[in-house]
Amino acid sequence: MTKTDLDFIRHLVAKGGPDVEDYPDFEAWVSRLKQGTDAGLVSETDKRQIEQVFGDALTCETMQGFAYRKPHGYPGDFEIIDRIYTHWKSPREDLRKWDDYFHQQVAPEAVRNRKNVFCRCIDDLGQVPKRILNLASGPARDVYDWMGPEKPRHHITCLDMDPKSVQYAKELVREKHQSLNGNSPDITFIVGNAVRYRAAQKYDLIWSGGLFDYFSDRVFVAMLKKFRSMINPGGGNYGWKFWKQQSIASVHGIGGGMGFRAPNRGTASWPRPFGGCLPGPRGDHQRRIRRKPLLADLGGIGWSCI
Ligand SMILES: C[S@@+](CC[C@H](N)C(=O)[O-])C[C@H]1O[C@@H](n2cnc3c(N)ncnc32)[C@H](O)[C@@H]1O
Repeated sequence: MTKTDLDFIRHLVAKGGPDVEDYPDFEAWVSRLKQGTDAGLVSETDKRQIEQVFGDALTCETMQGFAYRKPHGYPGDFEIIDRIYTHWKSPREDLRKWDDYFHQQVAPEAVRNRKNVFCRCIDDLGQVPKRILNLASGPARDVYDWMGPEKPRHHITCLDMDPKSVQYAKELVREKHQSLNGNSPDITFIVGNAVRYRAAQKYDLIWSGGLFDYFSDRVFVAMLKKFRSMINPGGGNYGWKFWKQQSIASVHGIGGGMGFRAPNRGTASWPRPFGGCLPGPRGDHQRRIRRKPLLADLGGIGWSCI
């Protein structure tokens, strides 16, 4: 970490965060830091210096600080994810520009977009109640947003291994349930590990956003196979979708005919490559996944990297 690198951050901190014209330089700075961290060139002393120079801009009072500190102990927890969905910005004026920068990056945008895709997928299931599994449901903001007065009474199971996440999601959904006077889908919450999860009944749709990039390649393939076998064959049509870059798999078996349906290319502006997040204190990053050959192992899977 050179003096020039640190001076650049000092300059941004002094003016309360980057302005739009600073974005390219700040992005390049973060990218250099990430490369240095990946190559083992950023020492603990460097990290302490960086933390010191950022000051409050690298605490949980900002989006980047929350992503960096990981107060729940792992990346991508329900709280940072819900902050992304709700466009949370620091109540402190002097830190707000850091959050403006954070939210305009492609990764948070892709997270917000996948919620819209979730809502579209559920709407595509039609009016007859179906069984849906939301795997690694996090804050369940996707379910919350989908719920509405005219919606079918699907049975939705939300599974997540973090009990705090499940509690948060329950409260969020309860709020919506009350605002709909109880006219809402039947939602069950389970605290559990997706790797060990077994269900007594099959599902018509299994959705998972942001889970598969936690897995090694071996577990990744085993999980896709397992969840494919948990799809209800009743409807006949058998569709797999896997968007590799933001690790979203949706699997469903509704409709007529048999076969795999490849997702349409170019119909959505998401997901886009992950980028721009500060590496965490232990230098861990969300792993970019390049798994097309692995998907071929599964045979017939539709995949896309829009
Ligand atoms: C990035 S969040 C995604 C949340 C939600 N799917 C969304 O898109 O908003 C990842 C979630 O996966 C959960 N998770 C990670 N590994 C898991 C596992 N093996 N089984 C169940 N949940 C897991 C975490 O607790 C976290 O809530």
